[in-house]
Parts: sequence; C-alpha cells; structure tokens
Amino acid sequence: MAKTDQYIAFEKQVTAQNYAPLPVVLTKGEGVYVWDVEERCYTDMMSAYSAVSHGHCHPRLLRVLQEQASQLCITSRAFYSDTLAPFLDKLCQVSKMDMALPMNTGAEAVETAIKAARLWGYKHKNIEHGKAEIIVASNNFHGRTTTIVSFSSQEEYKHDFAPLSTGFVSIEFGDAKALEEAITENTCAFLVEPMQGEGGIIIPPAGWLKEVQQICQRHNVLLILDEVQTGLGRTGKMFAFEHEIDAPDGLVVGKALGGGVYPVSAFLGKKEVMELFTPGSHGSTFGGNPLAAAIGLEALKIIEEEGLAFLSRQQGNYLMDKLNAIDSPMIKEVRGKGLWIGVVIDKQLANAHDICLAMMQKGVLAKETHGNVIRFAPPLTITPEQLDSVLFVFKEVLSEIQGGRSDQEVSI
Ligand SMILES: Cc1ncc(COP(=O)(O)O)c(C=O)c1O
Repeated sequence: MAKTDQYIAFEKQVTAQNYAPLPVVLTKGEGVYVWDVEERCYTDMMSAYSAVSHGHCHPRLLRVLQEQASQLCITSRAFYSDTLAPFLDKLCQVSKMDMALPMNTGAEAVETAIKAARLWGYKHKNIEHGKAEIIVASNNFHGRTTTIVSFSSQEEYKHDFAPLSTGFVSIEFGDAKALEEAITENTCAFLVEPMQGEGGIIIPPAGWLKEVQQICQRHNVLLILDEVQTGLGRTGKMFAFEHEIDAPDGLVVGKALGGGVYPVSAFLGKKEVMELFTPGSHGSTFGGNPLAAAIGLEALKIIEEEGLAFLSRQQGNYLMDKLNAIDSPMIKEVRGKGLWIGVVIDKQLANAHDICLAMMQKGVLAKETHGNVIRFAPPLTITPEQLDSVLFVFKEVLSEIQGGRSDQEVSI
C-alpha cells in the first residue's frame, strides 16, 4: 500500500467524515507550494479557503511565532497582556473601525457580531426584548455553529441539526430593494458577505453595497459585513467593502488574519456598538491570546509592507484575462475579484470535482465549491509565471476531458 493510501485509510478510521478531501496527503509547505508524503510538489490554488494569503510558512511569521511562543503564549483575558492592544490598534487602523473583540475562528467572530447586533438593538434602538431581527442574504456562508446554520439556505447544513435558532430574515443576495422591504421596527442589523465565497464566488451588482449602506443608515440598522474570506487583500483591496463604501458599522475578520499559521479572528465595530459589551457578556479563553496577537499584528504588517492587496489585484486581473481567453465549451462563466476567481463548469459537459482530481494528478490543488464552481484562490504572493504553469495544467485537463483523453487541444 502506498504511503498516501495508508494515511488516508488511517484518517478515515479515526476522523469523523465531515469533509470530502482530495486524495492527497500533505506534509510540507513553502510559499505557494505544498508537498505530499510521496514528495510530489503542488501549487496551492486553494490556500486553505483563503487563510494562507501570505503563502505557506512565511519566514517573518515563523520568526514571530517562535519568538512569542518562547516568551508568553496564553494568558486568557483574566489579565492584560502587552501584545493585544498593539494588534487591535493596527487592525482598527486598517479597517477604519473604532474597537475590536478578538476571537479565534470565523464562526466565533460571526457569533460575536450577532450578539453585538442584538445587544445594540436592545440597548441603543430600544427594540422590545426578545424581538430583535437580523436580516441575512440567501446563499450565505457564515460558518457552522447551530445559530449560524439556522439562517443558511442550504438544507444539508441545517436539517438534521434542528431545533434551529430564530430571529433571522433572509432576502435575495444583491437585491437592495428587498432589504428595504424586509426592514421592520425590530431589525437591528443586516449581516452579509460583501461578495459570497462558499456560495460560489458571487459578485453582487455594482452599486449594491453603496445602496445597502444608504438604506441601513436611513432606517437606523447596522450594516455588518462578514469579510472572513474576502478581507485582508483577497479581492484586490484591503477589504472588499472598499470597492464601494468607506466603512461599515461592524466587520468580521478571520482566516488570513492568522497569517496561515494560527487561528485568529475578530469582530470590529463602531464605538457605540462595542462599548455595550460588559464583563461577562461575551468571552473566549483563547481569543486575543499573546501568541495570536503577535501573529495577527505581523500578518497585518506583512500585508501592508508586501503590498498583498495590490498584488492580488494585479495578478487577479492577469489570471482573469487568461481564464476568459480559454475557449472551452465546458466553461460557462469566469467571475471574481482579485485573486479570488470562480470558474463555472457546465454540469452537462463535465464534473468540477473530476477536473480538480485531474489537476491534482498534474500538480495543482484546487477545489470545487457549490458543485460546479472551481475556485482559484492561491496565496497572494503567487507570480505570473506560477499562474502560467497552473493555467497550462488547467487547459491540458480541459482538453483531455473534452477529447475523451485524445490529444485534442483546447484553443486559446
Ligand atoms: C464568509 C465566511 N464567514 C465565516 C466563515 C467561517 O470561518 P471558520 O471556518 O474559521 O469558522 C467562513 C469560512 O469559510 C467564511 O467564508
């Protein structure tokens, strides 16, 4: 039995099968590359669902990780630390928010946003207790807790986890008019991804977010953006909201905030929202620990100093142009922003999962989302030459599938 098969069999024995991974067993990473246990090298076009924007094992992050780990790791928030304020100060500065509440995972930061919105609804907007409503968008993805899956549109995410939480109203993503119609006196917030990731890389109509902000302001409703996936350079700006608005009222960040080495997330907001939290109203043993804070601060500095948002925009345009130039009947649409691109595969002609499997065999790791969308979201440090190699593999795979493994080429 090959090593790969052994590891996979072992993992299947002891691990709940809540994922369906590609059959590759990784053991090492550096920059945009990862290696498997058979010493085969792959270009990572997935970057851990956008958590590895800095590239694998960034040397500056490893240095900070080691230095801080040998100094002080975990204290809990029962005490102050000398790392938390500098980290959150930097995070507030880059996001134009007033204050932050540190967490670990994206879902925890979304839960924090939900609590903040309800708290503000009762304390600030005087909504009758127990009646606060949060408007969300169809096709959303905000994480996997029982409250969050309660307002998912995906039946398989929630059906068997009932009873579900109430207090959420869902409207069509990208429809500003629907938002205005859904607002009632009990609405405290609109919680939405500025662009949908797990939903299949969906970019809303131009002007939508701007209009959404005006509606929220008109009706005294908080606009809370979940930028766990789109934030920190991924879409070609530091935050996706910057494509349209100055700043929202609340912001959820995670994934790349940990530099691809540690789970770090946060909910950020305006002072009038954040100052409502009091001791005991919320917490996390690990949230904002010294190790997380040191890594988060360094991750933010690297994004700025290496110009990762700019690189994402530049390389994203390059990749988008090259993907659009591929003339294949299997490609229905190419959409995205920055280095965050979804290629929609025509289900009648090919299976996105099979394409990902074939690319894996040729040294490129990508994964389908929402059935027929192949997501290309590499580390933001990827070069045009490295993208060319990926495009070569992608075109070769499309050719092989189209020609039933004949030598037929897909024209470009
Ligand atoms: C927009 C968005 N919010 C929240 C989450 C949940 O993050 P985590 O998996 O770290 O809990 C994700 C994860 O993919 C996400 O894309």
